[in-house]
Amino acid sequence: MLEKMDAFFEKRLDGYDEHMRTNVDDEGQFYAFTAAQLPKAAGAKILDLGCGTGLELEEYFPLNPTAEITGIDLCRPMLEALEKKFPGKKLRLICASYFDEPIEKEYFDAAVSVESLHHFTKQQKIPLYKKLCNGLKKGGYFILTDYFADHQEREDYFQRELIRLKKEQGIEDNAFYHYDTPLTVANETDALLQGGFSGVEILNQWGSTYTLKAIK
Ligand SMILES: C[S@@+](CC[C@H](N)C(=O)[O-])C[C@H]1O[C@@H](n2cnc3c(N)ncnc32)[C@H](O)[C@@H]1O
Repeated sequence: MLEKMDAFFEKRLDGYDEHMRTNVDDEGQFYAFTAAQLPKAAGAKILDLGCGTGLELEEYFPLNPTAEITGIDLCRPMLEALEKKFPGKKLRLICASYFDEPIEKEYFDAAVSVESLHHFTKQQKIPLYKKLCNGLKKGGYFILTDYFADHQEREDYFQRELIRLKKEQGIEDNAFYHYDTPLTVANETDALLQGGFSGVEILNQWGSTYTLKAIK
């Protein structure tokens, strides 16, 4: 059965960090790698899309203890768990969808998103990436670590399956349901370029997980 996105993560909060560290991020590689790509300058302003319990921030704060983090996430209990981990840090946590939440113009030095955006289509992402690109300062960039479909056929299959499951379960609303619909790296890159980023590079890869850097 499909579950609403926030309810899905709330139900799995106990054991979430352990699951991500051991089953998803084999040997803790991509969180550390992702964090190491973010700015080290004191007070750097960072936007984290789908920050969850802040696993990427656990790696980032030791590298930049004075960073100012704005984290957007749909799931309030995930944000509460994040807040408890980092007393005294500069955190602005927003419980909302990043598709709806306005982003200040040219405010952020960098943005990051880990394992969150593989739930959405290219059409949904283009306007989000426009807003995100506008929110970055000149020279700013976006680090995206996520998992991707290896072929167009796989991407199409997941999108069709989501539509089929929603129909089968009589779901007619436009709420977000938890179902993975990863894009290919080529389509993600195209969405970022259509969103206004000037270039996209692949920084690293672990199986189907990649880290992409999109430069304003
Ligand atoms: C797999 S978790 C990743 C969390 C964290 N970045 C990490 O790697 O541990 C995905 C997160 O994205 C959030 N999320 C999914 N869709 C969202 C949306 N449209 N707006 C804001 N947050 C969203 C979920 O609530 C969840 O906390």
